[in-house]
Amino acid sequence: MSTKQHLRLAVIPGDGTGPEVTAEAIKVLGAVAKLEGFTFTTTPFDWGGERYLKTGETLPPGGAQELRKYDAVFLGAVGHPDVKPGVLEKGLLLELRFQLDQYVNLRPVKLYPGVETPLAGKGPKDIDFVVVRENTEDMYAGIGGFLKKGTPDEVATQTAVYTRKGCERIIRWAFEYTRRRNSPKKRLTLVAKTNVLTYGHDLWWRTYQDVAKEYPDIEADYNHVDACCMWMVKNPEHYDVIVTTNMFGDIITDLGAMIQGGLGVAAGGNINPDPGGVSMYEPMGGSAPKYTGQNVINPIAAIGAMGMLLEHSGQPAAGARVLKAIMAVTGTKMKSQSAGKMGHGTREIGDLVVEAL
Ligand code: IPM
Ligand code: MN
Repeated sequence: MSTKQHLRLAVIPGDGTGPEVTAEAIKVLGAVAKLEGFTFTTTPFDWGGERYLKTGETLPPGGAQELRKYDAVFLGAVGHPDVKPGVLEKGLLLELRFQLDQYVNLRPVKLYPGVETPLAGKGPKDIDFVVVRENTEDMYAGIGGFLKKGTPDEVATQTAVYTRKGCERIIRWAFEYTRRRNSPKKRLTLVAKTNVLTYGHDLWWRTYQDVAKEYPDIEADYNHVDACCMWMVKNPEHYDVIVTTNMFGDIITDLGAMIQGGLGVAAGGNINPDPGGVSMYEPMGGSAPKYTGQNVINPIAAIGAMGMLLEHSGQPAAGARVLKAIMAVTGTKMKSQSAGKMGHGTREIGDLVVEAL
């Protein structure tokens, strides 16, 4: 990927503690831009719970189109205590992922130095893999319906949709990514449920076998999803890169977030890698409304998401520098990754990362 000397970012700080962690991510961006010699602009978008309560709109008409004018999007968090669960998640987050065709949901599971994992006897050497989650299909497609709703005979369906194109592009991207990541393991693991989902995951399996032929240097490994949950806890060091479906990816990346120290650290990217595609980076945790405005929320995940944004948007050296600074701070300055227990406030953690750059 070519380097970009000027980055135009769209920023959706969102709800609850979203704006606070976003501010720290932008603070770190400002510092690393100076050091690495690039420039940027940030354009804020007020999308989220407050706006929805005022206007009834989640994503305003033409909103996704507007974001196409930017090099990347940074999202703080969505979720508001006065908005019914699902409204903002579907109407804003999933809508953006779908409309911008961000078909790669990239979620590193990396235990930073000094961060506590609930896995006994495991350390940063053991927990360092990446989940590549398909991000546009599966049960998330919104296909289904009710029959005889509200009666004792009610029927509900929620269809998992998989397309050859959808499987193939994510699987190929995951093979390419495994090659680029170039860890000594050189292993891609498909996580699915081929023993039970004999249509949809048969398509995944056949596509995986076909694409694997183009990557003889990468081990094409396979796990059923239930076994994967077991191995992620027992032998996380087995994994290098995992590629999986949207629904399974959602579930196993929460497990991944916990073994890497929690939602205060876990970051992800919703990537459209096609030419002209616009990608969106976000901390994995929610808006944590009860901590709003108290300077106690952990900004590491948001700063990590900014590092990923830089890595994938034409400033890889800056991205690597941010990641290194994060690891210096978690390794030597933080007591815990939980809100209120870090030994520093939100803004102070941002300052420490800036110092460590
Ligand atoms: C995530 C979240 C979303 C998802 C929700 C908020 C719709 O859990 O990013 O993992 O299910 O993808
Ligand atoms: Mn999730």
